[in-house]
Amino acid sequence: MNVSQVLHMNGGVGEASYSNNSLLQQKVISLTKSIREEAITSLYCSTSPRTLSIADLGCSSGPNTLLVVSDFIKVAEKLCRERNHESPEYNIFLNDLPGNDFNNIFRSLDSFKEKLRGEIETETGPCYISGVPGSFYGRIFPKQSLHLVHSSYSLMWLSKVPENINNNKGNISMASTSPGNVLTAYYNQFRRDFSLFLECRAKEVVEGGRMILTFLGRKIDDMCSKESGYIWELMAMALNDMVLEGIIEEEQLDSFNIPQYTPSPSEVKLEVLKEGSFTMDRLEVSEVNWNALDEWNDFACESHKFESLHDGAYNVTQCMKAVSEPMLVNHFGESIIEDLFNRYQEILIDRMSKEKTKFVNVTILLTRKP
Ligand SMILES: C[S@@+](CC[C@H](N)C(=O)[O-])C[C@H]1O[C@@H](n2cnc3c(N)ncnc32)[C@H](O)[C@@H]1O
Repeated sequence: MNVSQVLHMNGGVGEASYSNNSLLQQKVISLTKSIREEAITSLYCSTSPRTLSIADLGCSSGPNTLLVVSDFIKVAEKLCRERNHESPEYNIFLNDLPGNDFNNIFRSLDSFKEKLRGEIETETGPCYISGVPGSFYGRIFPKQSLHLVHSSYSLMWLSKVPENINNNKGNISMASTSPGNVLTAYYNQFRRDFSLFLECRAKEVVEGGRMILTFLGRKIDDMCSKESGYIWELMAMALNDMVLEGIIEEEQLDSFNIPQYTPSPSEVKLEVLKEGSFTMDRLEVSEVNWNALDEWNDFACESHKFESLHDGAYNVTQCMKAVSEPMLVNHFGESIIEDLFNRYQEILIDRMSKEKTKFVNVTILLTRKP
């Protein structure tokens, strides 16, 4: 799989789009609001920049794309007003892989600016927004051109599927039953990718510039733990059933692996220390329910519980579909998609009725050293 060509979220604004199914990622973004405020406040107070260049890496397309940007601008404008400073000019860079639906973002820019003006109620500094297609595992900006870099739920995607993992039979990700060499290959790919990411950003971020990065991760170091890739293990169950029924070839399943690694806090910290260009000001771990609309409550009657469980599993299925459909279609073809996601939803209903299912998030705040 050529990840930079194949990987993208479902575009557009339809029922299966990422735009319509990214509430979970929005919740995760809301959990890091205070870290983002801390980052821009400390940056502004130490440099009072006349121009603020902000990049969101792995921005995708939908309501989350400009959410972080608008939060940054609101905080910066408040800081300016408190100090009687003139507003800075804002250079906003929205980065993703070339298959991302950038057109959808560009179409929403006028309404974004209008909404922002309404919310801030005073004239803001001019805001120049550009799309930057390309992999963040390479140079995508000029030297020392960025003050703030943000990335949420994007850096767990690897630049490629690790090599020599043909023996990851019956699995489609790092899983509790993956052989040791597979787990090591995933970990090594993460280390190479993340250190390259840090090297590239070290060149692009100004001294004193901040980066706020949130990974889908895990709390503990054990790579075999359920936190690693349980959501994909359940998708693999549906695919294995389809192999048993002769709908998918076994060999087709065995040659499919998701390019995703969910690092632990200590794995992230180690790479930052080793690369050496950034200080780590904060590291936080948080959790979010698989079902972003989780309204589970112990007092609900049985029929309500069933309904909310069913709706919850539907939301999780739709979210996973928006994220993985292009990759699955590329490997297995269009024809299996509906059947696969019907089966996946049934498996999710079962699991979510028996377990409290959560994703773990690892967030770090870094400052570029002088
Ligand atoms: C789950 S989405 C997150 C989008 C958004 N940040 C949010 O929180 O809703 C992950 C995004 O990262 C992008 N991505 C993955 N690998 C990338 C890479 N190497 N370079 C740039 N973007 C990448 C994907 O294309 C996808 O749009």
